Amino acid sequence: MKDMSPDDIVGEHKKTVLKFTDGSERVVYTTEIETPMPSGRLIVSRTDAKGIITHVNQSFVDMCGYTEAELINTPHHILRHPDMPAVAFKGLWDTLSEGKKWHGYVKNLRKDGGFYWVFATVIPNIREGELMGYSSVRRKPSREKVEEAEALYKTL
Ligand SMILES: Cc1cc2nc3c(=O)[nH]c(=O)nc-3n(C[C@H](O)[C@H](O)[C@H](O)COP(=O)(O)O)c2cc1C
Repeated sequence: MKDMSPDDIVGEHKKTVLKFTDGSERVVYTTEIETPMPSGRLIVSRTDAKGIITHVNQSFVDMCGYTEAELINTPHHILRHPDMPAVAFKGLWDTLSEGKKWHGYVKNLRKDGGFYWVFATVIPNIREGELMGYSSVRRKPSREKVEEAEALYKTL
């Protein structure tokens, strides 16, 4: 995955080198600018069995700032924010590998270095016993739950 480009970043930023589960790395830049998720909108994506994005809706594009072309065929960790503990995603993948639905609060990284919080539900798509991939739907989380998640994630 390509490093983030400082030219895309809006505002004062901090540099972090993210390490992913597959051993790859990405330089990311983060700002303190939050884009609140609008109520009544749903962010939808689908991935293949490896977590490579195969479909996004318009709300997904609007919230993360990447174009659809930049997102398709890219690992979903393009949205990984350094404030998200790796253990949260281990929980997600462990749950999915049991064929179960996962939900949780996620802080996502935008192309411009800002962030947005979502309440995400992820489900395995199983057809005739075969795993086809995963789908995720996200909605606006309550402020109280975001604050709880933020405090918890700092301890992990
Ligand atoms: C359907 C689906 C949706 C996902 N949505 C996100 C997301 O919005 N943000 C995110 O950081 N990771 C998301 N993930 C998890 C990533 O695939 C990845 O596990 C995570 O970003 C941590 O990176 P790593 O597992 O490559 O280390 C999603 C996974 C799936 C299967």
